[in-house]
Amino acid sequence: MTAPADQPDPAAGLPLEPRPAVRLLIDRETLQERVGELGAEVRADYEGVEPILVSVLRGGVVFLADLVRAAAMPCRADFMAISRFDASEDTGVVRIEKDLDLDLSGAHVLVVEDIVDTGLTLTYLLRVLAARGPASLRVCALLDKRARRIVDVPLSYVGFEVPDVFLVGYGLDLDERERGRSELLAVDDLDAVRADPALLDQAARPDAAARPAAG
Ligand code: IMP
Ligand code: MG
Repeated sequence: MTAPADQPDPAAGLPLEPRPAVRLLIDRETLQERVGELGAEVRADYEGVEPILVSVLRGGVVFLADLVRAAAMPCRADFMAISRFDASEDTGVVRIEKDLDLDLSGAHVLVVEDIVDTGLTLTYLLRVLAARGPASLRVCALLDKRARRIVDVPLSYVGFEVPDVFLVGYGLDLDERERGRSELLAVDDLDAVRADPALLDQAARPDAAARPAAG
């Protein structure tokens, strides 16, 4: 068998560029700058109404923590935890594991999400929250994985549109770890990263050797 002329044939032993298992998608400075912009937008839009920011545990808390400081405005924050009823079924129906403590009736509610993927979970969640009679209900999502969308869900604020690849860091987990990373990494080979988590550190600091010492 021969490969097409324009593609290298692996069997011929030609050197192929190995695809990195993980790469830096958004560095910390870019993330912080964008979160700062989103915070300023939210502050301007909610002036005088003291919104309730709702975060979905656990991935969303890192973004929420930075967003409230960037917005630096009078607001309340509350948290809920949900789990999928059946992970194998893409219905979006979730079980509320921990509900909000605050009463949403008459309140201006802003759901702060780390990432919107299929949109199924968020659509279900918005339906649940809307039934509690908020004065307004909007969504601020840091990341929009739009290529994966199954149900259209209106997002009032979006930080970045991201490709359909597994993302880790800035709240997003890999097997419940790595949420504390300040940058966002794209994992193309999960098995390789599970076998060698140091690949994440290398991708997070590609210029570590070249960077001059701080100070
Ligand atoms: P969906 O929009 O209903 O598909 O669910 C979105 C949820 O899936 C997010 O809140 C994340 O918890 C999780 N998720 C989606 N994409 C990723 C990813 O790339 N890395 C880690 N978690 C993800
Ligand atoms: Mg989430």
